[in-house]
Amino acid sequence: MQKQRAFVTGATSGIGQAIALALHAAGMDVMATGRNAAALDGLAARGLRTRALDLGDVAALPAALQAALADFAPDVLVNNAGMVAPPGNFCDMAEGDIHRSIATNLTQALLVTHAIAPGMRARGSGHIFFTGSIAGHTPYPNMAVYAATKAALGGFAQSLRLDLSSAGVRVTEIVAGRVESPLYKDVLSPVARAAMYANQGAAQPADVAAMVLAVLALPAHANVGRFDILPTRQPVTAQVPAAGKAD
Ligand SMILES: NC(=O)c1ccc[n+]([C@@H]2O[C@H](COP(=O)([O-])OP(=O)(O)OC[C@H]3O[C@@H](n4cnc5c(N)ncnc54)[C@H](OP(=O)(O)O)[C@@H]3O)[C@@H](O)[C@H]2O)c1
Repeated sequence: MQKQRAFVTGATSGIGQAIALALHAAGMDVMATGRNAAALDGLAARGLRTRALDLGDVAALPAALQAALADFAPDVLVNNAGMVAPPGNFCDMAEGDIHRSIATNLTQALLVTHAIAPGMRARGSGHIFFTGSIAGHTPYPNMAVYAATKAALGGFAQSLRLDLSSAGVRVTEIVAGRVESPLYKDVLSPVARAAMYANQGAAQPADVAAMVLAVLALPAHANVGRFDILPTRQPVTAQVPAAGKAD
């Protein structure tokens, strides 16, 4: 019997890498995507398929996806890739970061889903995950555009579920609180990042991956539309310091 196939975006790091490795360990044929060539090589060495994809280049994305998916029809799609711009007051945000955030956190996920969901609908099965954020469900200071992209992603996921439910395709929004990953590595200092993750203030990527496996393991008639995973010690809103302000 053919292995179940999974397509994972943002698989080169953090949460996506943990999910890709967990799906591979569970016996799936995983296509891991990202830009980081060394990380992709590392995943290939562990037996995963890999594909270099720049999801921020949304104009080129449909053609790139067509090539990637030519002989690979995923049973599971994990729309996980995302980024944060330097945290700070929206009034001070660079215009380019607004566009980059929307392209990388939202538009690309719609395009990836648009390339894969029709096949799932035609086959009458499939499971699509979105790595959303608690920032999309509750106000976050210094992260207004990030919050907007994650709120939109959550709204899309919940509505998409209704479009696909009669075809037997499941949709799950992962509502993640703080997870210790390299997400802020380019926008906060090591000191500020360490403070965010101190005192068990973060869940781990493997925790999220374990939940994805648990949700997938449910019988096909049961759909977890959304799950929230926060560090036990995190109140709903966790502070993200403005870049350069917390050192
Ligand atoms: N960490 C948290 O506290 C937290 C909380 C809630 C939600 N999330 C969400 O979780 C998801 C994963 O983040 P993470 O925490 O695991 O951070 P991470 O370690 O920085 O991972 C981000 C992933 O996204 C990929 N990516 C970013 N821009 C890309 C682009 N233009 N093209 C292709 N891939 C791109 C990166 O791959 P390359 O670098 O190889 O391109 C990387 O694999 C994101 O959607 C994030 O918003 C994180």
